[in-house]
Amino acid sequence: MLRIEPFYETEYGVAYLGDAKEILADESLKNSVDLIMTSPPFALRRKKEYGNVEAGEYVAWFLEFARVFHRILKQKGSLVIHIGGSWDRGQPTRSLYHYELLIELCRMPGYKFYLAQEFFWYNPSKLPTPAEWVTVRRERVKDAVDCIWWLCKEPHPKASNRKVLQPYSESMEQLLKNGYKTKVRPSGHQISAKFSKRNNGAIPPNLIQIANTESNSRYLRACRQSGIRPHPARYPAGLPEFFIKMLTDEGDLVVDPFAGSNVTGEVCEHLKRRWVAVDVVEEYLEGSKFRFDEFCIGDWVERSGQRSFFLREETEKYQ
Ligand SMILES: C[S@@+](CC[C@H](N)C(=O)[O-])C[C@H]1O[C@@H](n2cnc3c(N)ncnc32)[C@H](O)[C@@H]1O
Repeated sequence: MLRIEPFYETEYGVAYLGDAKEILADESLKNSVDLIMTSPPFALRRKKEYGNVEAGEYVAWFLEFARVFHRILKQKGSLVIHIGGSWDRGQPTRSLYHYELLIELCRMPGYKFYLAQEFFWYNPSKLPTPAEWVTVRRERVKDAVDCIWWLCKEPHPKASNRKVLQPYSESMEQLLKNGYKTKVRPSGHQISAKFSKRNNGAIPPNLIQIANTESNSRYLRACRQSGIRPHPARYPAGLPEFFIKMLTDEGDLVVDPFAGSNVTGEVCEHLKRRWVAVDVVEEYLEGSKFRFDEFCIGDWVERSGQRSFFLREETEKYQ
């Protein structure tokens, strides 16, 4: 437990209001964290409302946090950063800021991270922006992937892809049924008979496809009802869920230093991971309380085959 006063607590976690690099510098957290799972403010051409930094200043800004992250992570812990790309001002070319950040993180003297693997989040529901280059002049296509850097303090962080296996594709099911003749592929790879052994599922690729289209969650309903503005840049629960499952076990400690509406905390609560969340904006943390049973009284109701959460007063309307 940190020395500062929590903003709120749940069965598995604690949320703090303040600057993450100050709050997480607490001595009690040193070498104690299994996973830092986060989506920091991205570098944007125009400053957004929650403290986004310009691309040119971004790396220096982030490295101050990164030293604290390195210090609190266990030796086998991981740092997973979801970071969106950005366009250069006034021309259809891409900023390199998130690649520069990655390189610097892997070069920091005394706080070096390794790149365990890069992931890409494909969000089919992304809008075609910037309109000038994509929909008006038609010089660029829709930008629909965000980068996710999975970093670690040593080359073998705690990880198991067995915990995130996916259903086999139809063609793989056919192959498992009919068997596979060993042969050499045009690339020169020898495919052995082991390839047709049924395991517990398919090993997922580093491309994660999730549409970010939350519109009727308990969080959004409760925000609407209590007049709190929902967080403008939430990630879908499936994103932290993938990494939390692959990189931690029940009871492990997960930290989100830029927690926003605390999707990370909510996923941890369901998966029985301990969590610490930090954000500098009080309204975001206030709204994030609705993700937890302790602060949001209501019922899950099944209607037309769909499970929806209704706040207690809303449920009464349906009775
Ligand atoms: C992209 S948002 C995170 C959204 C979150 N993943 C979610 O799904 O709701 C980044 C957050 O970082 C917070 N932030 C910015 N600077 C911060 C700082 N110095 N310490 C803690 N949080 C900060 C912002 O208030 C913002 O909510």
